[in-house]
Amino acid sequence: MNETEARIRQLRKELDEHNHNYYVLNAPTIDDREFDRLMAELQRLEEENPQYADPHSPTCRVGNDHNQAFTQVAHRYPMLSLGNTYTREEVAAFYERVQTSLQEPFSIVGELKYDGTSISLTYEHGRLVQAVTRGDGVRGDDVTENVKTIRSIPLVLRGDNYPDLFEIRGEILMPWTVFEQLNAEREREEEPLFANPRNAASGTLKLQNSAVVASRRLDAYLYYLLGENLPTDDHLENLRMAAGWGFRISDAMTRCRSLEGMYAFIDYWDVNRKNLPVATDGIVFKVASLRQQKFLGYTAKSPRWAIAYKFQAERAVTRLNSISYQVGRTGAVTPVANLDPVQLSGTVVKRASLHNDDIIQSLDLHIGDFVYVEKGGEIIPKITGVDTDARLLVGEKVHFITRCPECGTPLVRYEGEAAWYCPNDETCPPQIKGRIEHFISRRAMNIDGLGSETVDLFYRLGLIHDVADLYSLRESDIASLDRQGDKSARNIIEAIAASREVPFERVLFALGIRFVGETVAKKLANAFGSIDKLAAATEEELVQVDEIGVRIAGSVRAYFAHPSTAALVGRLKEAGLQMELSAERLARRTDRLQGATVVISGTFTHHSRDEYKSLIEEHGGKNTSSVSAKTTYLLAGENMGPAKLEKATKLGIKIITEDEFLQLIGQEQ
Ligand code: IVH
Repeated sequence: MNETEARIRQLRKELDEHNHNYYVLNAPTIDDREFDRLMAELQRLEEENPQYADPHSPTCRVGNDHNQAFTQVAHRYPMLSLGNTYTREEVAAFYERVQTSLQEPFSIVGELKYDGTSISLTYEHGRLVQAVTRGDGVRGDDVTENVKTIRSIPLVLRGDNYPDLFEIRGEILMPWTVFEQLNAEREREEEPLFANPRNAASGTLKLQNSAVVASRRLDAYLYYLLGENLPTDDHLENLRMAAGWGFRISDAMTRCRSLEGMYAFIDYWDVNRKNLPVATDGIVFKVASLRQQKFLGYTAKSPRWAIAYKFQAERAVTRLNSISYQVGRTGAVTPVANLDPVQLSGTVVKRASLHNDDIIQSLDLHIGDFVYVEKGGEIIPKITGVDTDARLLVGEKVHFITRCPECGTPLVRYEGEAAWYCPNDETCPPQIKGRIEHFISRRAMNIDGLGSETVDLFYRLGLIHDVADLYSLRESDIASLDRQGDKSARNIIEAIAASREVPFERVLFALGIRFVGETVAKKLANAFGSIDKLAAATEEELVQVDEIGVRIAGSVRAYFAHPSTAALVGRLKEAGLQMELSAERLARRTDRLQGATVVISGTFTHHSRDEYKSLIEEHGGKNTSSVSAKTTYLLAGENMGPAKLEKATKLGIKIITEDEFLQLIGQEQ
């Protein structure tokens, strides 16, 4: 082995070790900078010496942006589900069944039931070779590339006492904090929110772009080993050994030697699970001995040697007093149940979301009903059922309103959507106010000092009807109003004036065009350069832009086709807003990349990946995510995926460095 190869191996080993310390043991031994330095060295060496490429190198944890298709794979052992129990009596019945069948001493392992999406990992000679989703239990999707991005799953095992071939199963989870950040981001981008971390985890695992999966920071807990040569006859012992091979095994796993021990486990975790970083929905009890498991066997669907005990979803019963309907800035009408206040997992609940008409119908709700309210994995409490036995007098059946509660316009329902909409975007007050609030928000025009109460006041007083009216407000208009002193009036006027400098892409976002979030606005601004060009763009021209599909194109076209848009845009232009890219940005634009398709891979030093994407568009090129025969350049940064490199080389695609790219567009560093 030469020196380079030895160094590569050494770095991989060290980085694997640090990943394990950080992600599995939560006990890093070096700081992030040092880690990044080692990683950068490995990336550089691998790039310079592609002959030593290894699909298990820690460098492949960043994923790549190939559009992968998932192949279906048959499970070597079917992935079964567990029988569910909800009461202590059912747990006792399980214990007694086991006792009667075995007629010998046994112990039970208590574990948490993680609420994510299940995965089966196959390791051969200590290396992860395949990761498959549950699917229908018999066949699942091969999601190996995505699973490799999960840092707590070892790609190469530690030590040497693992079987040559085995499977390990567990749950892939999205931690609560990641889930909340992701949803906040999706809200900004006007993308549909994930209902709970489980949906977010399974949705993420099925993404075609593993680089995006890597950015979602999934986690995994493993709880079940399968194979011919497992080290011992004891489930818990085996998993403890697996922890030594580098897997993350839950600390909660406990041996219970009696039914009382099982109850104590339930009592403890029913309370303490609330402090865990990930969602759990119950407990799993498994007979510890593999020999005894085999003896007990399986029913058609589930093992006789294990059961799940589901936590009581925190639920309360309360009276439904009325339904209110809220109209959002897009006109969507959301039904909200007003309830008698009730305690539910530490907070008082007075309102619950009813989501949409279909849900109201399926619940057959009547005013005065006693309803079940739950706080599941979801953030907003929801109504899950009606206690029909408690119905004393049947109140009025709940029918979704047919007219807008704010402006009286008949509601409409668009094909394929569950929501009812108020189509009166011109004069319906909450839609107007909602658009103004979006316009002034921090990420849009960032007009400080104007909150939703002030907007409401100005609107009621007839001072503003649309966003353009903001620019004709005068200090004297405001100062005379209740609670607004001279100083705050001046501040508001100054903040409005300052917003004239907000760059075009943010103005575009501020307009509140449906499906045009921050990222899309940036792409459109770069591709078209001005509001007039964007307004004139055809559907074909719009979908030419990277990541703009027919849905967004349709929405942009509809916005500019609307009779009032031209007048509004005209007034905003007159008010001095930036309706095109700045002269400086425009001057930078060239057509040096006209007709070129550029794929970006890896990380860079002079600009971020997003900046490079913008630069490609500003210079007339197109940025795509995967290498194909149509690719003109592969812009290669550090830590480029080896597969991408190989494909580009095979197809004879020109691979350029960051500096070469900047030279190409005339921006030598
Ligand atoms: S054992 C044959 N252990 O619950 C037994 N499953 O309803 C295989 N789950 O599909 C499963 N935590 O996704 C087991 N500690 C745990 C678990 C667990 C969560 C999930 C798993 C499985 C489902 C069974």
